[in-house]
Amino acid sequence: MRHAEIHQHSLREPEAFWAEQARGLHWDQPWDQVLDGSAAPMYRWFAGGRLNTCYNALDRHVENGRGEQLALIYDSPVTGSVARFTYRELRDRVARFAGALLKQGVKQGDRVIIYMPMVPEAAIAMLACARIGAVHSVVFGGFAAPELAKRIDAAEPVLLVSASCGIEPGRIVEYKPLLDQALQLAAHKIARCIVLQRPQCRATMIAGRDLEWDEAQTGVEPAACVAVLATDPLYVLYTSGTTGKPKGVVRDNGGHAVALWYSMQAVFDAQPGDVFWAASDVGWVVGHSYIVYGPLLRGCTTVLYEGKPVGTPDAGAFWRVIAQHGVKTFFTAPTAFRAIKKEDPRGELIHRYDLSKFEALYLAGERCDPDTILWAQDQLKVPVVDHWWQTELGWPAAANCRGIEDLPIKPGSATVPVPGYDIQVLDQAGQRVAADTIGNIVIKLPLPPGTLSTLWQNEQGYRDNYLARYPGYYLSGDAGYVDADGYLWVMSRIDDIINVAGHRLSTGAMEEVLAGHPDVAECAVIGVADAMKGQVPLGLVVLKSGVQRAPEEIVQELVARVRQQIGAVAAFKQAVIVSRLPKTRSGKVLRSTMRSIADSQSYNVPATIDDPKILDEVGAALKSLGYARDPQ
Ligand code: COA
Ligand code: AMP
Repeated sequence: MRHAEIHQHSLREPEAFWAEQARGLHWDQPWDQVLDGSAAPMYRWFAGGRLNTCYNALDRHVENGRGEQLALIYDSPVTGSVARFTYRELRDRVARFAGALLKQGVKQGDRVIIYMPMVPEAAIAMLACARIGAVHSVVFGGFAAPELAKRIDAAEPVLLVSASCGIEPGRIVEYKPLLDQALQLAAHKIARCIVLQRPQCRATMIAGRDLEWDEAQTGVEPAACVAVLATDPLYVLYTSGTTGKPKGVVRDNGGHAVALWYSMQAVFDAQPGDVFWAASDVGWVVGHSYIVYGPLLRGCTTVLYEGKPVGTPDAGAFWRVIAQHGVKTFFTAPTAFRAIKKEDPRGELIHRYDLSKFEALYLAGERCDPDTILWAQDQLKVPVVDHWWQTELGWPAAANCRGIEDLPIKPGSATVPVPGYDIQVLDQAGQRVAADTIGNIVIKLPLPPGTLSTLWQNEQGYRDNYLARYPGYYLSGDAGYVDADGYLWVMSRIDDIINVAGHRLSTGAMEEVLAGHPDVAECAVIGVADAMKGQVPLGLVVLKSGVQRAPEEIVQELVARVRQQIGAVAAFKQAVIVSRLPKTRSGKVLRSTMRSIADSQSYNVPATIDDPKILDEVGAALKSLGYARDPQ
């Protein structure tokens, strides 16, 4: 019962528990208070303490004898290259780039946007910001210019770091035109961009504004680490909310470092020197926490992979990387496994590689269907851990903490709450529900270190979105239940966020884009089940009266519009035109009813529906796209 005891201790005595974990890091100044609850429900961890996250991730290990150990392995099947950086090399590269940021006038607390593909320079830029106390805001490379512009306006950065291109299988994605367009669209003006020129495509630079990566570092002094307050922000990461306006999750320095350092050991059972690989992207929270900060804080070797699970070159890509670099712990999204399973159902490619160092697979980012877990377990013969968390939380909230106690897993469940998290399930009235009863998943305050401290320049938004629904609790936005053994089952979102191939997207944002089309009167976007991506978006569109154009043409324009305004990553490929949307009498669009129809699930016609007949038309329209198959 080790896990249960430790979990209990973490909730009963959070200050003692987290102070003990924090001692694993280097502090320039000890904290005055482990947990400052004076402004509850806004809590602050390690108030008064000072540290530097980059020092703890790099310099500390060099000083403690890990200088020659590999810190980062860059493996890029899309460019056919592998590069390795020891802790000493990575520290020196980061210190030099940090010097370049200082030379450009970046100061402590200033924001720097990083819009980059999966290259080591992305991690270097993040760590360089941390080194000088600047606040990075990484924007995923799959977002289009208008999304980048939104984040520029929200974060108001002094500088932007980018690259000439990203590489997707079969195509080069030129970043610089997107960057230039975003800078034109944004109201906030940026005086300086640093651009990494990649050999696959050279960016055209704008004289006076743009500097090349190497040029920016010529003749600069390496920068030292600045001791910042534990409560100072390390980064802002924008994530999808229910509207088109992304939410800027703020992560502090102290709590973040402590939580990640702890989670590497407790959740992932990773020890210094181990090779740890999270196949995600630095643009997502998984990339922040488990490509960059977590493994380095713990003294592991991290793998930064620029490739896909399939097609680079085949469905054996993951096994090749695991074998080649001796990966012990591997983390990815279930969708990647579904893609592999589709191409190599019998796992034949797995047996071509020596996976003897591989010990465990961790899956998160979306609900993992039991079939995928069982297939992975069967093929790989290692424990498969489904764990649950979110951008806001920054590190796992429910998992099988193999570093504490390897619990029996139940496929479909994220296992049990991680130490520090008091997860409960509440009904609409705020009462705890009985075991096995579905409700809103909440976390009792205070949240543990490493979770969001607020939303960037929007504390009211933080309170309204997360804290107001149930006073004293954080509303996760997920629905699910806890079973009689205390296992958490996360089943669905309670809002309009969908999860497409492990990418979190807002249907509200897509609706805003569709509604901007001149022929569209109103629309709804729903997430429908997809065998590979988990969910994909689908638009239902009502045209303005009098529009006579061919529906296919309009649909094509809508698809192109979402791609141009949100990005290819939205995977918005289908829309259908209907005469009206089903609504309640008060005008609320019945999105969840349409979703149930599309997914061929049973549903109750809401008593408040305005006109039930419209559901037949919606059903027929969805059928025409291959959904709503079974008799309802
Ligand atoms: N820059 C530019 N475009 C990007 C991009 C990036 N960084 N990432 C994805 N895209 C594009 C893709 O090229 C694709 O474009 P297309 O419509 O022209 O084909 C589109 O966005 C959708 O991408 P994706 O959702 O990745 O679908 P896919 O069909 O290319 O690949 C998987 C499917 C399952 C292989 C892929 O989604 C995957 O590897 N998922 C893992 C998810 C993950 O790591 N999530 C992070 C949380 S752990
Ligand atoms: P993101 O913020 O992109 O990490 O997405 C977080 C959301 O993904 C959560 O709120 C859940 O809806 C979903 N999610 C993540 N991990 C899991 C999991 N293991 N099981 C079910 N849903 C998950």
